[in-house]
Amino acid sequence: MKILLTGGCGFIGSHQAVVLLEAGHDVVIVDDLSNARATVVDRIAEIAGRRPQFVGLDVRDTKALVEVMATTGCDSIIHFAGLKHVAESMERAVDYLDVNVGGMTSLLRAADVTGIRRFIFSSSGSIYGPASTTPIPEDAPIQPTNPYSRSKAVCEEILSAVCAVDPTWAVMSLRYFNPAGAHPSGLIGEDPTNLISNIVPVLMEAAVGEMEAVPIYGTDFDTPDGTAVRDYIHVMDVVEAHSTALDLLPGTTGFEALNIGRGQGISVRQLVAAAENALGSSIPVVERPRRPGDVAALVAATDRARERLGQTDYRAVDTIFSDAWRFRVGRSSVWARRW
Ligand SMILES: NC(=O)c1ccc[n+]([C@@H]2O[C@H](COP(=O)([O-])OP(=O)(O)OC[C@H]3O[C@@H](n4cnc5c(N)ncnc54)[C@H](O)[C@@H]3O)[C@@H](O)[C@H]2O)c1
Repeated sequence: MKILLTGGCGFIGSHQAVVLLEAGHDVVIVDDLSNARATVVDRIAEIAGRRPQFVGLDVRDTKALVEVMATTGCDSIIHFAGLKHVAESMERAVDYLDVNVGGMTSLLRAADVTGIRRFIFSSSGSIYGPASTTPIPEDAPIQPTNPYSRSKAVCEEILSAVCAVDPTWAVMSLRYFNPAGAHPSGLIGEDPTNLISNIVPVLMEAAVGEMEAVPIYGTDFDTPDGTAVRDYIHVMDVVEAHSTALDLLPGTTGFEALNIGRGQGISVRQLVAAAENALGSSIPVVERPRRPGDVAALVAATDRARERLGQTDYRAVDTIFSDAWRFRVGRSSVWARRW
């Protein structure tokens, strides 16, 4: 297959590019580099032994997208490009809706014009909001509590509406819980050029002494130790799930949503302890008030995804840390000088 990978220079997208190239697919990355470095394309090529095509553009530029789709002959789309921070979205609601929802409609229009009908969307477990059941099944109510999650929920509605009237579309929306870790080579990982906000890279910064202490936002949630509970899944498991979903698309039609998580809740305090254990060093923390838009617990029910995607073994949390650490240490010693 020839796959258009929007946001393919970012954290999850770069790992996806490697896995697709290694499986023999052709990959066309479109990314505006608003939260990634162009050098990641070299590293994707170094790991995979083949180079993806790269086009620098904003996915809201429909005309440019149509040209890329028409000239490259892509047959499928995996859409990662977008803004992704819950807390930031509380202050930049319009930007989040513009990039995430505007990016989606632009991409759909370009796909419509060029005849691409296979689509995988990066959704988020955060669309469930304060779920009444844990773990959360895919048919739980969608109750977003912040503009980021709402933008993802709206994108799902748009995709579902398109599929409802046109059976030629095959769409999978993968609702990730908390992807983390890095490629085992240590060459690519989570390396935002804007905000470092996801907890695993924050833990890495604290472990190397670049950050004084890891902020724990909220110690009064209704959870066993008062800190927020999330479902951390290795980024390689996430992208392997996409590859399987991509293989399923030619035999399917309509809209389908699957949770992508390990199905295991870990509190922030437990995660810090696991990081300390895996890295063999102590990590200072500082308690802060809850952030607006955050919920107490988000843990995936994984039965449906395991059945559809056949993925049974997920990498352990220790592997998330050892791989993230290899990337962080390698970045300090080699890449930082080049950047
Ligand atoms: N990482 C997570 O914890 C997580 C959890 C749930 C869902 N997601 C979703 O998965 C997707 C990928 O997340 P990630 O962690 O790799 O994020 P990321 O920021 O590392 O990657 C996103 C990429 O998209 C690019 N981009 C942003 N806006 C663009 C635009 N308008 N046009 C073209 N390129 C643009 C950025 O430069 C970046 O390379 C996002 O849609 C995110 O919402 C992520």
